[in-house]
Amino acid sequence: MDYFFLYLPMISEAQKVARYQRLISQAEGLLEKSPSRESAFATLNAILYHKISYIFWVGFYLLHEKELIVNAYQGPLACQVLPYPRGICWQCIREGLAIIVPDVNLAPDHIACDSRSKSEIVIPLKGKDGIIPGVLDVDSDQTGAFTEADANGLTNLVNLIRL
Ligand code: SME
Repeated sequence: MDYFFLYLPMISEAQKVARYQRLISQAEGLLEKSPSRESAFATLNAILYHKISYIFWVGFYLLHEKELIVNAYQGPLACQVLPYPRGICWQCIREGLAIIVPDVNLAPDHIACDSRSKSEIVIPLKGKDGIIPGVLDVDSDQTGAFTEADANGLTNLVNLIRL
């Protein structure tokens, strides 16, 4: 019988893990030398946006009282303010854990800044004394783009930033 895979993942978990290892080696040297938190954010965004083809938008949201305010990002225009308590970014702050949304259309609390975003992963930043000062938010224009390898790889990358 002839057949073909319509939605075969373009990249395996093992390939993702190997790629994140390479990105961590590259980012370590750069982020150690970052003169500020914002320069580290901008540098990590550039690495991710240009090295991972399924990333459509990547950026940081930082906590300011009862709002999450956008910081450095790469990709199309995004929401500047995420008011408490709606959205996946706020959920990530509350849980203190990475959140993967395979299909944003099935997540009623998701805030759509761009209708082309189809899946999302949000990683908490770990500040001093266990305080979470914000999140790394990554969107894809493909459904189901993010997996455990992304959660681990992105967590290791943000943990290189001196907050
Ligand atoms: N989807 C996020 C909002 C930020 S954008 O994806 C850039 C959320 O639900 O919190």
